[in-house]
Amino acid sequence: MHQKTREQLVNRQSGYSLDRDFYTDPDIFEDDLNEVYFKEWLFATPACELPKVGNYIVYKIADYQIVIVRGSDNEIRAFHNTCRHRGSVICREEKGAAAKLVCPYHNWTYDLDGSLLWARDMGEDFNPEEHGLKTVHCRNLSGLVYICLAENAPDIESFARVLRPYIEPHDLEDAKVAYQSKIIENGNWKLVWENNRECYHCLSNHPSLLRSFPEDPRVSFLGEGSTPDYISEHFSSCKTIGLAAEFQVPEDGHYRLSRMPLLPGAKSFTMDGEFAVPNKRLGRIEWDQAGVCNKFHYPSTWAYFLPDHCMTFRVTPISPTETELVTCWLVNKDAKEGVDYDLKHLIEVWEATNAEDRRVVEDNQKGVNSPAFVPGPYSPLHELSVDGFVQWYCDKLASRMPEKETTMSIIASV
Ligand code: FES
Ligand SMILES: [Fe+2]
Repeated sequence: MHQKTREQLVNRQSGYSLDRDFYTDPDIFEDDLNEVYFKEWLFATPACELPKVGNYIVYKIADYQIVIVRGSDNEIRAFHNTCRHRGSVICREEKGAAAKLVCPYHNWTYDLDGSLLWARDMGEDFNPEEHGLKTVHCRNLSGLVYICLAENAPDIESFARVLRPYIEPHDLEDAKVAYQSKIIENGNWKLVWENNRECYHCLSNHPSLLRSFPEDPRVSFLGEGSTPDYISEHFSSCKTIGLAAEFQVPEDGHYRLSRMPLLPGAKSFTMDGEFAVPNKRLGRIEWDQAGVCNKFHYPSTWAYFLPDHCMTFRVTPISPTETELVTCWLVNKDAKEGVDYDLKHLIEVWEATNAEDRRVVEDNQKGVNSPAFVPGPYSPLHELSVDGFVQWYCDKLASRMPEKETTMSIIASV
């Protein structure tokens, strides 16, 4: 880790946004990749993107390319997209279907489980078993595929256990991707997250979203003892029909889950508040007012699960000032566009919201780039969750510093 990153962490003032270097500096960006993105579990794709044996996607993050493929045993696995011969990429396309993974260079041929099946004229001593594709940790959590690039992946089971009752009722394995958008925001990945973690900006920026989504900051973050009656009542109603709803946040704050009410009368994230897919819903939730299950999982994803459809978001840093955001709208795999749903009705609110968020993030980055920028204070009412994200990020970096003493002093100061 760069000395600069350590010094900046020591100087960080709790309750304030980060210093300029955290949003602009190439060395700190490198530390973000090495110490956070390359060591944590990352959401890669909804499993329904790979409905059939041999379906694959390639997820690129920095110089890594990961092939995620459904094997003939229906298991989803992840491999580095680099041939064990002389290193060519194997899958050139971002997504596709293949019976075997064949390198385009000299045609070494791999099975969908990564083992090397065929390599021409490699001599008698050549052992194919020693030349299978390099694996990447991969878990399918109730229909959400996660990967981890670290050699030793951190525990994901405790998260998987908490997550399961929240999203299994949405039957993500029975979904299809109705629409996917990929945008590059000209802003640091942490600015993308900070913006996502508050609705302080909603009133002046998100007219479409606020047709169904409550601006109440307690919908985004429930501090201790701050649950208002209408949210408690929503939790109880969900519980009565067996739906997990209560706000969940672990001690280190790396994920948040809850099922929150939408505005009175609203059923889904649409312009009219009605369901986008009313007659072929995704999942088994029959209560129209079940609201939205919010899932936030640092550093790479947030997602929304509604009674009729779901949305996943994937955040990938590209450079200190560029971030890729991939959004997938998931509907029941049997729902037909133009019959069971109108695509515009389905995606309109979040297409607009993503574009609005992109604008505010890019404005934020431009302002932060100025040498005159100094970190400002977070609103104690609206931005508790932003502070929570930044705290998680600082703690994560601090925990990965090699010198124990420095680590301890930083933990004490943030
Ligand atoms: S580099 Fe893949 S077969 Fe040669
Ligand atoms: Fe926003």
